[in-house]
Amino acid sequence: MRWNLVLGVSLLSSLKVHGLIRFGCSQLVTERFDPLVTPGKVSPHVHQVVGGNAFNLTMDPANDLQALSTCTTCRFKEDKSNYWTATLYFKHPNGSFIRVNQMANHNTGPGLQSGGMTIYYFQPTGKFSIFPKGFRMTVGNAQRRSGSSKPANGPERSLSFRCFGSDPYNMGDGTPGSGSTDSFDLPKQPCAGGIRSNIYFPTCWDGKNTDSPDHQSHVAAPAGGPMAAGCPSTHPVVIPQLFMEIVWDTRPFNDKALWPKDGSQPFVFSMGDPYGFGQHADYVFGWEGDSLKRAMDQCTSGTGIPWDCKALTLQDVDTMNQCRQPVKVEEPVEAQWLPQLPGCNPIQSGPSPATVVSNCAAASTTLTFAPSPTVAPVVVTPPWTVCNANGNGAGGIEPNCNAYPGPTTAKGFEATPAPTVTPL
Ligand SMILES: *[C@@H]1O[C@H](CO)[C@@H](O)[C@H](O)[C@H]1NC(C)=O
Ligand SMILES: *[C@@H]1O[C@H](CO)[C@@H](O)[C@H](O)[C@H]1NC(C)=O
Repeated sequence: MRWNLVLGVSLLSSLKVHGLIRFGCSQLVTERFDPLVTPGKVSPHVHQVVGGNAFNLTMDPANDLQALSTCTTCRFKEDKSNYWTATLYFKHPNGSFIRVNQMANHNTGPGLQSGGMTIYYFQPTGKFSIFPKGFRMTVGNAQRRSGSSKPANGPERSLSFRCFGSDPYNMGDGTPGSGSTDSFDLPKQPCAGGIRSNIYFPTCWDGKNTDSPDHQSHVAAPAGGPMAAGCPSTHPVVIPQLFMEIVWDTRPFNDKALWPKDGSQPFVFSMGDPYGFGQHADYVFGWEGDSLKRAMDQCTSGTGIPWDCKALTLQDVDTMNQCRQPVKVEEPVEAQWLPQLPGCNPIQSGPSPATVVSNCAAASTTLTFAPSPTVAPVVVTPPWTVCNANGNGAGGIEPNCNAYPGPTTAKGFEATPAPTVTPL
Protein backbone atom coordinates (compact mmCIF):
# COMPACT_ATOMS: atom_id res chain seq x y z
CA MET A 1 0.00 0.00 0.00
CA ARG A 2 1.57 3.23 -1.12
CA TRP A 3 0.93 6.58 0.52
CA ASN A 4 -1.48 7.53 -2.24
CA LEU A 5 -3.65 4.65 -1.07
CA VAL A 6 -3.05 5.28 2.59
CA LEU A 7 -3.99 8.88 2.11
CA GLY A 8 -7.02 8.07 0.03
CA VAL A 9 -8.24 7.71 -3.48
CA SER A 10 -8.48 11.45 -4.01
CA LEU A 11 -4.72 11.59 -4.20
CA LEU A 12 -4.25 8.88 -6.76
CA SER A 13 -4.40 11.11 -9.80
CA SER A 14 -2.59 14.07 -8.38
CA LEU A 15 0.28 12.59 -6.44
CA LYS A 16 1.16 9.14 -7.65
CA VAL A 17 4.28 9.88 -9.65
CA HIS A 18 5.33 13.04 -7.89
CA GLY A 19 7.78 13.82 -5.16
CA LEU A 20 7.07 12.90 -1.57
CA ILE A 21 9.30 13.06 1.45
CA ARG A 22 8.18 11.87 4.87
CA PHE A 23 10.40 11.97 7.94
CA GLY A 24 10.44 12.13 11.71
CA CYS A 25 11.65 15.11 13.75
CA SER A 26 12.21 14.67 17.48
CA GLN A 27 11.62 17.22 20.21
CA LEU A 28 13.93 20.25 20.21
CA VAL A 29 12.31 21.97 23.18
CA THR A 30 8.93 22.39 24.85
CA GLU A 31 8.31 25.85 26.27
CA ARG A 32 6.20 29.01 25.98
CA PHE A 33 7.94 30.40 22.89
CA ASP A 34 6.21 31.45 19.67
CA PRO A 35 8.50 33.60 17.55
CA LEU A 36 5.75 34.17 14.96
CA VAL A 37 2.75 35.13 17.05
CA THR A 38 4.47 36.68 20.09
CA PRO A 39 8.04 37.54 19.01
CA GLY A 40 10.25 38.80 21.83
CA LYS A 41 7.74 37.81 24.52
CA VAL A 42 6.96 34.64 26.37
CA SER A 43 3.97 33.08 24.59
CA PRO A 44 0.66 32.75 26.45
CA HIS A 45 0.75 28.94 26.06
CA VAL A 46 3.19 26.05 25.70
CA HIS A 47 4.42 24.71 22.36
CA GLN A 48 6.37 21.61 21.38
CA VAL A 49 9.01 22.52 18.82
CA VAL A 50 11.06 20.47 16.35
CA GLY A 51 13.71 21.30 13.76
CA GLY A 52 16.85 23.40 13.67
CA ASN A 53 18.40 24.72 16.86
CA ALA A 54 18.35 28.35 15.69
CA PHE A 55 14.78 28.42 17.04
CA ASN A 56 14.49 31.45 19.30
CA LEU A 57 12.16 33.87 21.07
CA THR A 58 12.52 36.19 18.07
CA MET A 59 13.34 34.93 14.60
CA ASP A 60 14.00 37.73 12.16
CA PRO A 61 13.02 36.61 8.62
CA ALA A 62 16.47 37.78 7.53
CA ASN A 63 18.11 35.24 9.85
CA ASP A 64 20.27 32.73 8.04
CA LEU A 65 18.97 29.59 9.73
CA GLN A 66 21.63 27.48 8.06
CA ALA A 67 24.41 29.59 9.54
CA LEU A 68 22.77 29.94 12.95
CA SER A 69 21.90 26.25 13.45
CA THR A 70 24.42 23.65 14.44
CA CYS A 71 21.96 20.76 14.34
CA THR A 72 18.41 19.73 13.54
CA THR A 73 16.09 17.22 15.18
CA CYS A 74 14.81 16.17 11.74
CA ARG A 75 15.95 13.13 9.74
CA PHE A 76 17.31 15.23 6.87
CA LYS A 77 20.26 17.40 7.79
CA GLU A 78 19.30 20.01 5.20
CA ASP A 79 16.10 20.82 7.09
CA LYS A 80 16.80 23.62 9.60
CA SER A 81 13.16 24.71 9.50
CA ASN A 82 11.09 24.89 12.66
CA TYR A 83 7.67 23.35 13.14
CA TRP A 84 5.62 23.70 16.31
CA THR A 85 2.19 23.06 17.80
CA ALA A 86 0.42 23.41 21.12
CA THR A 87 0.96 20.58 23.61
CA LEU A 88 -1.70 18.24 24.98
CA TYR A 89 -2.33 17.72 28.70
CA PHE A 90 -4.38 15.16 30.60
CA LYS A 91 -6.58 16.67 33.29
CA HIS A 92 -6.83 14.38 36.31
CA PRO A 93 -10.15 14.32 38.22
CA ASN A 94 -8.23 15.90 41.13
CA GLY A 95 -7.58 18.98 38.97
CA SER A 96 -3.88 18.41 38.23
CA PHE A 97 -2.49 18.36 34.69
CA ILE A 98 0.26 16.29 33.10
CA ARG A 99 1.66 16.63 29.60
CA VAL A 100 0.77 13.79 27.22
CA ASN A 101 3.95 12.38 25.70
CA GLN A 102 4.37 12.06 21.98
CA MET A 103 5.58 8.87 20.35
CA ALA A 104 7.11 7.75 17.09
CA ASN A 105 4.69 7.36 14.22
CA HIS A 106 4.33 4.24 12.05
CA ASN A 107 7.22 3.59 9.65
CA THR A 108 9.62 6.25 10.95
CA GLY A 109 12.46 3.94 11.97
CA PRO A 110 14.83 2.39 12.45
CA GLY A 111 15.36 4.08 15.80
CA LEU A 112 12.82 5.65 18.13
CA GLN A 113 12.61 9.41 18.11
CA SER A 114 11.91 11.20 21.38
CA GLY A 115 8.66 13.10 21.03
CA GLY A 116 8.21 15.38 18.06
CA MET A 117 6.27 14.70 14.88
CA THR A 118 6.26 13.35 11.34
CA ILE A 119 6.62 15.83 8.49
CA TYR A 120 5.51 15.31 4.89
CA TYR A 121 6.07 17.45 1.82
CA PHE A 122 4.10 16.48 -1.28
CA GLN A 123 5.06 17.84 -4.64
CA PRO A 124 2.00 19.31 -6.35
CA THR A 125 1.17 18.49 -9.95
CA GLY A 126 2.05 21.11 -12.51
CA LYS A 127 3.98 24.28 -11.93
CA PHE A 128 4.84 25.11 -8.33
CA SER A 129 7.23 27.24 -6.30
CA ILE A 130 9.38 26.35 -3.35
CA PHE A 131 8.96 28.50 -0.23
CA PRO A 132 11.32 31.50 -0.42
CA LYS A 133 13.88 32.26 2.30
CA GLY A 134 12.19 33.92 5.29
CA PHE A 135 8.83 32.26 4.53
CA ARG A 136 6.59 31.40 7.47
CA MET A 137 2.91 30.61 8.03
CA THR A 138 0.48 29.24 10.57
CA VAL A 139 -2.67 27.17 10.31
CA GLY A 140 -5.54 26.98 12.79
CA ASN A 141 -6.78 29.34 15.48
CA ALA A 142 -5.77 28.89 19.13
CA GLN A 143 -8.87 30.78 20.33
CA ARG A 144 -11.35 28.59 18.49
CA ARG A 145 -13.74 26.67 20.73
CA SER A 146 -16.51 25.45 18.43
CA GLY A 147 -16.98 23.44 15.27
CA SER A 148 -18.47 20.24 13.99
CA SER A 149 -17.20 16.93 15.23
CA LYS A 150 -17.11 15.12 11.91
CA PRO A 151 -14.66 16.62 9.47
CA ALA A 152 -16.39 18.79 6.94
CA ASN A 153 -15.24 19.14 3.37
CA GLY A 154 -12.93 21.83 2.08
CA PRO A 155 -10.37 23.79 4.10
CA GLU A 156 -12.13 22.81 7.35
CA ARG A 157 -10.53 19.43 6.89
CA SER A 158 -7.03 20.88 7.44
CA LEU A 159 -6.98 20.06 11.16
CA SER A 160 -8.26 16.81 12.59
CA PHE A 161 -7.59 13.86 14.88
CA ARG A 162 -7.40 10.13 14.23
CA CYS A 163 -8.30 7.67 16.97
CA PHE A 164 -6.07 4.56 16.85
CA GLY A 165 -7.66 1.32 17.98
CA SER A 166 -6.21 -1.78 19.60
CA ASP A 167 -4.69 -3.22 16.39
CA PRO A 168 -1.40 -1.33 16.22
CA TYR A 169 -1.02 -1.98 12.49
CA ASN A 170 -4.42 -0.68 11.52
CA MET A 171 -3.61 2.91 10.62
CA GLY A 172 -7.24 3.68 9.86
CA ASP A 173 -9.00 4.30 6.58
CA GLY A 174 -9.27 7.28 4.31
CA THR A 175 -7.35 10.48 3.81
CA PRO A 176 -6.38 11.98 7.17
CA GLY A 177 -9.28 14.26 8.04
CA SER A 178 -11.93 12.19 6.28
CA GLY A 179 -11.46 8.67 7.64
CA SER A 180 -14.13 6.87 9.63
CA THR A 181 -12.14 7.22 12.88
CA ASP A 182 -11.27 10.88 12.27
CA SER A 183 -12.85 13.78 14.05
CA PHE A 184 -12.52 17.50 14.03
CA ASP A 185 -12.42 17.65 17.82
CA LEU A 186 -10.62 15.32 20.26
CA PRO A 187 -12.11 11.80 20.23
CA LYS A 188 -14.88 11.42 22.81
CA GLN A 189 -13.91 7.85 23.70
CA PRO A 190 -10.58 6.31 24.79
CA CYS A 191 -8.30 5.44 21.84
CA ALA A 192 -6.44 2.22 22.63
CA GLY A 193 -3.48 3.05 20.37
CA GLY A 194 -3.28 6.80 21.01
CA ILE A 195 -4.49 9.83 19.09
CA ARG A 196 -2.87 11.31 16.01
CA SER A 197 -3.18 14.96 15.01
CA ASN A 198 -3.39 15.48 11.23
CA ILE A 199 -2.40 18.99 10.16
CA TYR A 200 -2.33 20.25 6.56
CA PHE A 201 -0.89 23.64 5.75
CA PRO A 202 -2.27 25.74 2.88
CA THR A 203 -0.88 25.07 -0.62
CA CYS A 204 -1.62 28.40 -2.32
CA TRP A 205 0.53 31.50 -1.90
CA ASP A 206 0.11 35.11 -2.99
CA GLY A 207 3.56 34.86 -4.57
CA LYS A 208 4.75 38.08 -2.92
CA ASN A 209 4.73 38.08 0.86
CA THR A 210 6.82 35.72 2.95
CA ASP A 211 4.54 36.48 5.93
CA SER A 212 1.47 38.54 6.82
CA PRO A 213 0.30 40.20 10.06
CA ASP A 214 -1.93 37.24 10.94
CA HIS A 215 0.64 34.79 9.45
CA GLN A 216 -2.16 33.30 7.34
CA SER A 217 -3.51 35.75 4.78
CA HIS A 218 -0.52 35.46 2.43
CA VAL A 219 -1.52 31.82 1.91
CA ALA A 220 -4.82 30.04 1.24
CA ALA A 221 -6.14 26.52 0.99
CA PRO A 222 -7.79 25.45 -2.28
CA ALA A 223 -11.60 25.52 -2.15
CA GLY A 224 -11.52 21.73 -2.24
CA GLY A 225 -9.38 21.63 0.89
CA PRO A 226 -6.07 19.92 1.59
CA MET A 227 -4.47 18.12 -1.35
CA ALA A 228 -7.00 19.53 -3.81
CA ALA A 229 -5.94 21.35 -6.96
CA GLY A 230 -7.05 24.84 -7.94
CA CYS A 231 -5.68 27.89 -6.17
CA PRO A 232 -7.79 31.05 -5.88
CA SER A 233 -6.78 33.99 -8.11
CA THR A 234 -5.73 35.96 -5.02
CA HIS A 235 -3.21 33.21 -4.15
CA PRO A 236 -2.25 31.77 -7.51
CA VAL A 237 1.17 30.30 -6.71
CA VAL A 238 1.15 26.61 -5.81
CA ILE A 239 3.53 25.54 -3.02
CA PRO A 240 4.26 22.01 -1.75
CA GLN A 241 1.71 20.42 0.54
CA LEU A 242 3.23 20.54 4.01
CA PHE A 243 1.51 18.03 6.24
CA MET A 244 2.34 16.97 9.81
CA GLU A 245 1.26 14.19 12.10
CA ILE A 246 1.73 14.12 15.87
CA VAL A 247 1.04 10.91 17.77
CA TRP A 248 -0.10 11.59 21.33
CA ASP A 249 0.48 8.69 23.70
CA THR A 250 -2.85 8.84 25.49
CA ARG A 251 -2.61 5.13 26.42
CA PRO A 252 -1.75 5.75 30.10
CA PHE A 253 -5.00 7.73 30.50
CA ASN A 254 -7.52 5.34 29.00
CA ASP A 255 -8.97 4.18 32.34
CA LYS A 256 -12.57 5.45 32.21
CA ALA A 257 -12.48 5.83 36.00
CA LEU A 258 -10.15 8.78 35.41
CA TRP A 259 -12.46 10.39 32.85
CA PRO A 260 -14.92 13.18 33.67
CA LYS A 261 -18.25 11.93 34.93
CA ASP A 262 -20.19 14.26 32.62
CA GLY A 263 -19.20 12.26 29.53
CA SER A 264 -16.64 14.72 28.24
CA GLN A 265 -13.08 13.66 27.42
CA PRO A 266 -10.13 14.54 29.70
CA PHE A 267 -7.53 16.02 27.33
CA VAL A 268 -6.93 19.74 26.98
CA PHE A 269 -4.58 21.67 24.76
CA SER A 270 -2.05 24.02 26.35
CA MET A 271 -4.19 27.07 25.52
CA GLY A 272 -7.01 25.79 27.75
CA ASP A 273 -8.91 24.16 24.88
CA PRO A 274 -10.94 21.16 26.08
CA TYR A 275 -12.17 20.24 22.55
CA GLY A 276 -9.24 20.47 20.16
CA PHE A 277 -11.04 22.92 17.87
CA GLY A 278 -8.18 25.34 18.64
CA GLN A 279 -5.53 22.98 17.27
CA HIS A 280 -2.92 25.05 15.37
CA ALA A 281 0.59 24.77 13.97
CA ASP A 282 3.40 27.08 12.90
CA TYR A 283 6.07 26.77 10.23
CA VAL A 284 9.29 28.70 9.63
CA PHE A 285 10.95 27.61 6.39
CA GLY A 286 14.65 26.85 6.82
CA TRP A 287 15.79 24.37 4.16
CA GLU A 288 19.34 24.73 2.99
CA GLY A 289 19.78 26.26 -0.48
CA ASP A 290 17.74 24.42 -3.11
CA SER A 291 17.59 21.17 -1.13
CA LEU A 292 13.81 21.04 -0.83
CA LYS A 293 13.45 21.68 -4.57
CA ARG A 294 15.92 18.86 -5.26
CA ALA A 295 13.90 16.54 -3.05
CA MET A 296 10.59 17.46 -4.69
CA ASP A 297 12.08 16.94 -8.15
CA GLN A 298 14.02 13.76 -7.50
CA CYS A 299 12.34 11.86 -4.67
CA THR A 300 9.50 10.32 -6.60
CA SER A 301 9.63 6.71 -5.42
CA GLY A 302 6.36 7.25 -3.58
CA THR A 303 7.47 5.23 -0.55
CA GLY A 304 8.19 8.16 1.76
CA ILE A 305 11.18 6.22 3.14
CA PRO A 306 13.91 8.80 3.82
CA TRP A 307 16.77 6.80 2.33
CA ASP A 308 14.89 6.36 -0.91
CA CYS A 309 15.49 10.10 -1.29
CA LYS A 310 19.07 10.35 -2.45
CA ALA A 311 18.84 14.09 -2.94
CA LEU A 312 19.10 14.70 0.81
CA THR A 313 21.46 13.84 3.68
CA LEU A 314 20.31 11.40 6.35
CA GLN A 315 21.16 11.36 10.01
CA ASP A 316 20.31 8.59 12.43
CA VAL A 317 17.71 8.89 15.17
CA ASP A 318 20.29 9.09 17.97
CA THR A 319 21.79 12.16 16.35
CA MET A 320 18.33 13.67 15.92
CA ASN A 321 17.52 12.98 19.57
CA GLN A 322 20.72 14.62 20.74
CA CYS A 323 19.92 17.96 19.10
CA ARG A 324 18.11 19.77 21.91
CA GLN A 325 17.69 23.24 23.28
CA PRO A 326 17.70 24.16 26.94
CA VAL A 327 14.40 25.55 28.23
CA LYS A 328 14.60 29.31 28.68
CA VAL A 329 11.37 30.01 30.54
CA GLU A 330 11.73 29.14 34.19
CA GLU A 331 8.67 27.03 34.84
CA PRO A 332 7.84 23.33 34.69
CA VAL A 333 5.77 22.35 31.66
CA GLU A 334 6.23 18.59 31.35
CA ALA A 335 7.28 15.37 33.09
CA GLN A 336 5.45 16.27 36.30
CA TRP A 337 1.96 16.98 37.59
CA LEU A 338 1.07 20.66 37.36
CA PRO A 339 -1.57 22.50 39.40
CA GLN A 340 -2.56 24.51 36.30
CA LEU A 341 -1.67 24.87 32.65
CA PRO A 342 1.54 26.92 32.25
CA GLY A 343 0.85 30.59 31.48
CA CYS A 344 -2.64 31.84 32.22
CA ASN A 345 -4.87 29.37 30.47
CA PRO A 346 -8.03 28.60 32.35
CA ILE A 347 -10.09 26.04 30.48
CA GLN A 348 -12.41 28.04 28.26
CA SER A 349 -15.27 25.95 26.92
CA GLY A 350 -16.73 28.45 24.46
CA PRO A 351 -18.54 28.21 22.15
CA SER A 352 -17.40 31.83 21.75
CA PRO A 353 -13.68 32.28 21.03
CA ALA A 354 -11.37 32.10 24.04
CA THR A 355 -9.99 35.35 25.39
CA VAL A 356 -6.44 35.98 26.52
CA VAL A 357 -6.23 36.53 30.26
CA SER A 358 -4.98 40.01 31.06
CA ASN A 359 -2.79 40.81 34.09
CA CYS A 360 -1.33 37.36 33.85
CA ALA A 361 1.08 36.75 36.69
CA ALA A 362 2.85 33.84 34.97
CA ALA A 363 6.47 34.16 33.95
CA SER A 364 6.71 36.63 31.10
CA THR A 365 10.12 38.19 31.29
CA THR A 366 12.04 35.86 33.58
CA LEU A 367 14.03 34.46 30.74
CA THR A 368 17.35 32.93 31.30
CA PHE A 369 19.67 32.61 28.36
CA ALA A 370 22.00 30.58 30.53
CA PRO A 371 21.13 26.95 29.86
CA SER A 372 19.14 25.49 32.70
CA PRO A 373 19.13 21.74 33.20
CA THR A 374 16.19 20.07 31.54
CA VAL A 375 14.67 16.65 31.83
CA ALA A 376 15.50 14.56 28.77
CA PRO A 377 12.34 13.92 26.75
CA VAL A 378 10.85 10.49 27.22
CA VAL A 379 11.45 8.03 24.42
CA VAL A 380 8.13 6.22 24.32
CA THR A 381 7.92 2.75 22.78
CA PRO A 382 4.84 2.86 20.56
CA PRO A 383 2.49 -0.13 20.23
CA TRP A 384 3.70 -0.62 16.63
CA THR A 385 7.17 -1.32 15.28
CA VAL A 386 8.69 1.59 13.37
CA CYS A 387 10.45 -0.59 10.79
CA ASN A 388 10.27 -4.15 9.48
CA ALA A 389 13.04 -6.59 10.44
CA ASN A 390 12.20 -8.82 7.46
CA GLY A 391 12.54 -6.31 4.66
CA ASN A 392 10.38 -3.58 3.22
CA GLY A 393 6.84 -4.36 4.24
CA ALA A 394 3.37 -2.96 3.67
CA GLY A 395 3.80 -2.65 -0.07
CA GLY A 396 6.99 -0.67 0.15
CA ILE A 397 6.20 2.06 2.65
CA GLU A 398 7.45 0.18 5.72
CA PRO A 399 11.21 0.68 5.99
CA ASN A 400 13.47 -2.33 6.27
CA CYS A 401 15.22 -2.08 9.65
CA ASN A 402 18.34 -3.63 8.16
CA ALA A 403 18.58 -1.55 5.01
CA TYR A 404 19.21 1.80 6.63
CA PRO A 405 22.41 3.00 4.98
CA GLY A 406 23.56 5.02 7.97
CA PRO A 407 24.42 8.68 7.74
CA THR A 408 24.82 9.65 4.11
CA THR A 409 25.98 12.65 2.21
CA ALA A 410 23.76 13.73 -0.62
CA LYS A 411 25.31 14.71 -3.87
CA GLY A 412 25.64 18.46 -4.02
CA PHE A 413 25.48 18.82 -0.26
CA GLU A 414 28.35 20.58 1.36
CA ALA A 415 29.14 18.91 4.65
CA THR A 416 28.67 21.19 7.65
CA PRO A 417 30.82 20.85 10.77
CA ALA A 418 29.82 18.17 13.26
CA PRO A 419 26.82 19.29 15.33
CA THR A 420 27.38 20.78 18.74
CA VAL A 421 25.35 18.57 20.99
CA THR A 422 23.51 20.29 23.79
CA PRO A 423 24.46 18.48 27.01
CA LEU A 424 21.63 16.40 28.33
C1 LIG B 1 18.56 33.73 20.78
O1 LIG B 1 18.47 35.10 20.96
C2 LIG B 1 19.29 35.58 22.02
C3 LIG B 1 18.95 37.05 22.26
O2 LIG B 1 19.00 37.75 21.06
C4 LIG B 1 20.75 35.33 21.67
O3 LIG B 1 21.57 35.78 22.73
C5 LIG B 1 20.95 33.84 21.46
O4 LIG B 1 22.26 33.58 21.02
C6 LIG B 1 19.97 33.31 20.42
N1 LIG B 1 20.08 31.85 20.41
C7 LIG B 1 20.17 31.14 19.30
C8 LIG B 1 20.20 29.67 19.47
O5 LIG B 1 20.22 31.65 18.19
C1 LIG C 1 -3.59 14.20 41.35
O1 LIG C 1 -3.26 12.87 41.06
C2 LIG C 1 -1.92 12.64 40.63
C3 LIG C 1 -1.79 11.17 40.22
O2 LIG C 1 -2.13 10.33 41.24
C4 LIG C 1 -0.99 13.03 41.76
O3 LIG C 1 0.34 12.78 41.42
C5 LIG C 1 -1.20 14.51 42.06
O4 LIG C 1 -0.38 14.93 43.11
C6 LIG C 1 -2.65 14.74 42.42
N1 LIG C 1 -2.91 16.17 42.59
C7 LIG C 1 -3.52 16.63 43.67
C8 LIG C 1 -3.74 18.12 43.71
O5 LIG C 1 -3.88 15.92 44.58
